[in-house]
Amino acid sequence: MKMNDYRDRIPSLKRIRNGKPPIYFDNACMTLKPDIVVNAIKDYYEKYPACGGRSHHWFTREVDEKVSLSREKIANFIGTKMVEEIIFTRNTTEAINLIGHSFPFNEGDIVITTDKEHNSNLCIWKDLENNKKIKHMYVPSNEDNSFNLNRFEDILKKENGNVKLVSIVHTSNLDGYTTPAKEIIEIAHKYKALVLLDAAQSIPHKDIDVSELDVDFLAFSIHKMVGPSGVGILYGKYDLLKNIGRYNVGGDTISDVFIDEQPIYLPPPMKFEAGLQDYAGMIASGEACDFLSEIGKTNINKYEIELNSYITSKLSCFEEIQIIGPENPAERSGIFTFFIKKPTRIDDNDKALDEKLSDEHNIMIRSGMFCVNCWFNKKLKEGKINRIWFPAFRASFYFYNTKEEVDIFVEAITRELDRLKDIPIF
Ligand SMILES: Cc1ncc(COP(=O)(O)O)c(C=O)c1O
Repeated sequence: MKMNDYRDRIPSLKRIRNGKPPIYFDNACMTLKPDIVVNAIKDYYEKYPACGGRSHHWFTREVDEKVSLSREKIANFIGTKMVEEIIFTRNTTEAINLIGHSFPFNEGDIVITTDKEHNSNLCIWKDLENNKKIKHMYVPSNEDNSFNLNRFEDILKKENGNVKLVSIVHTSNLDGYTTPAKEIIEIAHKYKALVLLDAAQSIPHKDIDVSELDVDFLAFSIHKMVGPSGVGILYGKYDLLKNIGRYNVGGDTISDVFIDEQPIYLPPPMKFEAGLQDYAGMIASGEACDFLSEIGKTNINKYEIELNSYITSKLSCFEEIQIIGPENPAERSGIFTFFIKKPTRIDDNDKALDEKLSDEHNIMIRSGMFCVNCWFNKKLKEGKINRIWFPAFRASFYFYNTKEEVDIFVEAITRELDRLKDIPIF
């Protein structure tokens, strides 16, 4: 099947507004959903909308069977044979928070991140630092935003066994750059530190095998990989999951509870999945894995890089455009983030560029700091970017996007640059 055939499976792309279809370039935020995911959710609510686990009747049995199957599919999808290593959360953010709150840190322990983390992989460490539970350190990126392995190893060496956790973005939602996870993990393990990989932007686009990577924990969001919104996954090596603390407790996490003794908790994954769950979302997550496996993530990745190379070739020639991230589009996966080095709103009546793109062309992109505030604020402080350029714009692609859509986007941006031609470049 060709990519276009898979595009046909996305019902929301069939909508028409003002005579035009949607052009959805906001995939780093959330992806659109194919028919099988939508149908799985509909099926749950129409046919067996009951709880999992707690009851013993017909509907609950169906829920349990389908949730188990989905957990198995997710385990396969990321390369583990142990379904117990797959924990359902609400999103990547919750998965990272779960580790932050359950990891047995001692005073003086260090957690390392990069300097371009999503707020979801930074605020938790800042909070824990503020509460004197850990010390947070970061690896400054190279000038082109790539990861500096030497600096990373220097920190681990210098801190001499105090780094307990390396919590690092795999593919950045800022610029699409992918950190060298395998090398990072090998180095971290050499210094006895564990690694949590924020795979929110890598799992949807690249083949990832947790066993081959030997990663300790991995967090991702199903809604960024054609699955339902509000479902995330935490993967962890079983022994680690068994031995870390708890985050959320209550119904479904326990084996037994007594009024004057401590409760007895279940092993993973139930230990972490407190309360009744989003069963429709859990079940539809397995369908999302099947759908992406059928297309093949190698094909997806290759196709997105083609689109990114195409847009880069069309827009990098404008001197007022500053692309964020490595020069080579093959190193930016399906993400094209850029500044226009001019004010894009000439007066108060002028709409923001992304609103204009949406209103006039049905093109959906993202503007702002993309929850990577730390990177923008650091660059502003260092004088490497100009406040006048804000906001940054991000077009992020997936398998259902096309070159024709990119052409419409490029034409709209070119027209915008022409409108701004008398304004100097800052
Ligand atoms: C790299 C990265 N990490 C974490 C997150 C947080 O994901 P969620 O909002 O689904 O928890 C995102 C979402 O954009 C992301 O791109």
